[in-house]
Amino acid sequence: MTTTSFARNQWYVAAYGREIGREPFTRTVCGEPVLLWRTRAGEVTAMADRCVHRRFPLSEKPGRLDGDTVVCGYHGFTYGADGVCVRVPGQQRVPRTARLASYPVKEQDSFVWVWIGDKDKADEALIPRAPWLDSPDYTTISGMEPLAARHGLLVDNLLDLSHETYLHGGYIGTPEVAETPITTEVDEKAGVVYVSRHMDDAECPPFYAGSTGIGGRITRWQDIEYHAPCLYLLHSRIAPVGAPGPGPDGSDPGAFHVEVVYAITPETETSTHDFWAVARDFALDDQAVTDFLYESNRTVVLQDVVALNRLEQAIASEPAGTQELSINIDTGGLAARRILERLVQAGATAPVAAVR
Ligand code: FES
Ligand SMILES: [Fe+2]
Repeated sequence: MTTTSFARNQWYVAAYGREIGREPFTRTVCGEPVLLWRTRAGEVTAMADRCVHRRFPLSEKPGRLDGDTVVCGYHGFTYGADGVCVRVPGQQRVPRTARLASYPVKEQDSFVWVWIGDKDKADEALIPRAPWLDSPDYTTISGMEPLAARHGLLVDNLLDLSHETYLHGGYIGTPEVAETPITTEVDEKAGVVYVSRHMDDAECPPFYAGSTGIGGRITRWQDIEYHAPCLYLLHSRIAPVGAPGPGPDGSDPGAFHVEVVYAITPETETSTHDFWAVARDFALDDQAVTDFLYESNRTVVLQDVVALNRLEQAIASEPAGTQELSINIDTGGLAARRILERLVQAGATAPVAAVR
């Protein structure tokens, strides 16, 4: 029996809905290779991407879909959308145990969420929401970058945005980000970390100057919600200095709003799927703004990827438990680490072998 450092009894984003169609698609989530495809009715299915016969990946050519079944490309074992084998070559009788582990799956907010842990604990109501991503009131750009670093490093990175000043100077970093103190709140029970930084009078970085057209200084609010383990939301509010604040009813016509969403999905112990999206409530039909934000944000994400890949190498070369030194800016990241550790412990009794 093997246990891992993953929080298994949790929902994870496996893909964008647009990635899944009538071709077998594979992505590894928490060490489990998951096969994803759509039935003819358009429903997403998720099952183990290993044939029970000789373990050939079902996503591998010449494997293919045949109606609402998937046919193994090696010797033709054929499985239904529920993972149950319906046909084997050379004999009528299909062995009773010939079935793939299937995973609860839910398509929501443009994402395909999967649950790789104990099936009876898979409650769809637990999936955190990112409604902007498929709302007509927002225009969204998104992507996914493979990260050769453990997921905890990305969580640290996103919960401490003071690094924008240094790592992302010229894009989203200005001196005020690192200089302005944060407030941190933790909802231990829900597993949510809130980190806020409100800058009253800040330089407008190119990312926002180029997308909003604001020329002068800005009020810049960063309000983070991290729903451990997978979903990270950054509510970003940008307004010219002196513009009125949000009204008592929550309306805020004087400001530009950007919802930055990350889904942080462990692939292996030391690699991560870095899903990123930027939804805006202004210039909805302006393709030039869309293109600009796509290029800018992807550049920023890749700056983090390069840095975290390097950090993973550095950490991997050091003895486990080598000391770090934490300061005030790390409060949110440390809270997130505590919650992640607790989630791993809570699922630690789930052996990998049990879900096969
Ligand atoms: S490995 Fe799939 S049919 Fe043999
Ligand atoms: Fe970053």
